[in-house]
Amino acid sequence: MGTLWEGRLSGATTDALKALNDSLEIDKRLYREDILGSIAHVEMLVTVGLIEESDGALILDALKIAEEEISSGSFVFQAEDEDIHTALERRVTEIAGVAGARMHTGRSRNDQVVTDLRLWTLKSLDELALLVMSLQKSLIEQAKKAGETRLPGYTHLQQAQPVLLSHHLLAHAWALSRDFERIIETRSRTDVSPLGAGALAGSSLPIDPIMTSENLGFSETFKNSLDAVSDRDFVAEAVFVNALLAVHLSRIGEELVLWSSEEFGFVEIDDAYTTGSSMLPQKKNPDIAELARAKTGRIVGHLSGLLTVLKGLPLAYNKDLQEDKEPLFDSFDTNTLVLTALTGIFDSVTFNKEKMAQAADKPFSVAIDLAEHLVHKGMPFREAHTLIGGLVKASIENQKDFNKVVLENENFGPEIEDFFKPEAAIDRRTTPGSTGLDAVEVQKEQIKKRLEIQISMMPR
Ligand code: ARG
Repeated sequence: MGTLWEGRLSGATTDALKALNDSLEIDKRLYREDILGSIAHVEMLVTVGLIEESDGALILDALKIAEEEISSGSFVFQAEDEDIHTALERRVTEIAGVAGARMHTGRSRNDQVVTDLRLWTLKSLDELALLVMSLQKSLIEQAKKAGETRLPGYTHLQQAQPVLLSHHLLAHAWALSRDFERIIETRSRTDVSPLGAGALAGSSLPIDPIMTSENLGFSETFKNSLDAVSDRDFVAEAVFVNALLAVHLSRIGEELVLWSSEEFGFVEIDDAYTTGSSMLPQKKNPDIAELARAKTGRIVGHLSGLLTVLKGLPLAYNKDLQEDKEPLFDSFDTNTLVLTALTGIFDSVTFNKEKMAQAADKPFSVAIDLAEHLVHKGMPFREAHTLIGGLVKASIENQKDFNKVVLENENFGPEIEDFFKPEAAIDRRTTPGSTGLDAVEVQKEQIKKRLEIQISMMPR
């Protein structure tokens, strides 16, 4: 078999054309989806009478053989196989003879490739959703185990107020819950069959796009053939969803890097998720956490790369669209690696509760509670803020313990001593969604329910 266009164009393709034009190495991994699409297409062609049942059977058998060959590794790709679609059609024609030459009736690679890609993306979104949930579950499990462990909460990476470790871990779980929702929402817009749009304008043959759509399990069928073959919104959305997820994973990674440092010492990452140094014998490095932080770069890059490919494309299919696959595949591949590794880290991490408590129980961390105590007694907040700020300053300048400075101040009585007790700041937080013990218990119930809702959002 020569090129697909040998009827129209003469002469062999140049090496330079092939090197740039071929996409087989990248789109090979769509072979299952391509075969599924072809099966649905051929079954429809038989049903509407465009090909004989016997020819249909020969093609279906050949597709099955080709699938077995690819999955077992015995499929022999040929130099002229431009992409996976060409390779499979060539092989089917080799096996099924002239019947194989009828397979592409009423179809273009333009609707074929985007059908494959939608099927692949749907499957990958589902797998990603499950991985996101695994990390959430691991964080929630650690939040349960954390009990009343407290650590400093930070703003500007400066110690601000004590918070419960459970509260902190659940903050990440909520962000992941939004990632999960975005995955499911993207899924719904991906779940549209473009098969039957042809090259761009539909077909003069009596093909039935709704039949193939239903056969492939799509929820909807394209309404506009031009849009069907040129729309890559679902790719951009899937890459964006991955990019924002990666941003969240990067923040978790950065925190693990900080927390596992000698200076913080809040966590001990299990040896299985760390590496040593080739030179310094004492080193234990948080490489996984660092890579969770770093891998975000490529996914964010994929998003801007892809959007740049899409901008300015006239309707309908343009070869530029072939460039959609690498960013899509790599975004999913990368997050799959990172999610799996981070879940492993959280399943096996040890928190250093003493170190955390030590860092949390600094007198200044109750400054806001002291100001709010004065508010209770009727002082305007702004005035109380200034007053406590002055006491902090005095404590620093006179190198005198903050609790002593506060106790000596005429605005406070002996009741204020309790404010400096270790758990006091947490105990005083009673508002919904706060870091108080009761509020966090409520939150644990809420995230448990949220997970149940997430599970119910998964396609069956
Ligand atoms: N490999 C191509 C892609 O991924 C297949 C579509 C080619 N269509 C065409 N009209 N040349 O986009």
